[in-house]
Amino acid sequence: MAPPVIRLGLIGCGTVGSAFAEQLLVREPLLARRLGARLHLARVAVRDTKRLRPVSRTLLTDDAAAIAADPDIDVVIEASGDARASEWLRTALGRGAAVVTASKQVVARTPALLERLVRRDQRLWCEGAVAAGVPVVRALRESLAGEEVHSIRGVLNGTSTFLLTRLEAGQTFDAALADARSLGYTEADPTSDLDGSDAAAKIAILCTVAWRTPVLADDVTVTGISGVIPVAREGGWRLVATATRDGDRVYAKVAPERLLTADPLSSAHGVVNVVEVKASLAGALTWSGAGAGGAATASALVGDTLSAARQALRRLRARVAA
Ligand SMILES: NC(=O)c1ccc[n+]([C@@H]2O[C@H](COP(=O)([O-])OP(=O)(O)OC[C@H]3O[C@@H](n4cnc5c(N)ncnc54)[C@H](OP(=O)(O)O)[C@@H]3O)[C@@H](O)[C@H]2O)c1
Repeated sequence: MAPPVIRLGLIGCGTVGSAFAEQLLVREPLLARRLGARLHLARVAVRDTKRLRPVSRTLLTDDAAAIAADPDIDVVIEASGDARASEWLRTALGRGAAVVTASKQVVARTPALLERLVRRDQRLWCEGAVAAGVPVVRALRESLAGEEVHSIRGVLNGTSTFLLTRLEAGQTFDAALADARSLGYTEADPTSDLDGSDAAAKIAILCTVAWRTPVLADDVTVTGISGVIPVAREGGWRLVATATRDGDRVYAKVAPERLLTADPLSSAHGVVNVVEVKASLAGALTWSGAGAGGAATASALVGDTLSAARQALRRLRARVAA
């Protein structure tokens, strides 16, 4: 008998979406064996359907909302970063599809999505939205599910780390920013990296998962790196996200800190993110790895897609059995 087919709809085929689509093709036989079903990329939404992509032109559409609403798509993978993605994801979830997203701002600014993370909804996965390939969301969601998490600290924005380390080495801010742009470490508009709002969205998601209470990006107190640019040459400065809980209240902030060399967070360099979690039984745990880039984020998206597809398969089998 032919294996069941899980139909995927991808929204966004830029840095992250392209890397994801390429890996789906390269790993197709391996993923089918692991899942016991075939993953079929059925549609891909982009803004410009004329540009060359690593997928067949016949899959392309500029109508992301149609993919979200398509009853034949079992899993929607969102890698667009468009503010409307909040609506698309809710539409897909509302009709029973599973959803994978890389967009931190979308998750951390949508109460309905945060509520689903609180409930450990098996149809919403967002590993790639925080620290790209570093599997910290899943660790908090699953491995540490029975734990009491005391605190979370992280260097979660690679662009600010890159700039601060370049300033430490004596480069001017403008030259460091130009290098970050030419290496693809920052957007044309680096505001969200520099003002701390990118890291705020990431720590909000980690808090929500760890403490099972919705924390919005706007609940995080944020100070960007501009104030420390003149003193960055002293060395050791990083943009640090910190969160603790006191009773029902979660306190989360993002601010530049001058770290001691013994601090595990001080090992963050370039696009490497470092996250430290302190829990009652496990003690201090530290993860580090590439916090940006197509391949690292695709790793998280592929893993999440397998989890989402397993959920879709269960639904498919239940329908057949009924
Ligand atoms: N880049 C990273 O290292 C990284 C790491 C982790 C998470 N993320 C997150 O992943 C998401 C995507 O990032 P990216 O770096 O891949 O961005 P990107 O290179 O700019 O790609 C965005 C893609 O989304 C498409 N898109 C945007 N708005 C759309 C719309 N309204 N309808 C249909 N398609 C639309 C774009 O289409 P066109 O190509 O036609 O413009 C493009 O293909 C963001 O939320 C980002 O925060 C990125």
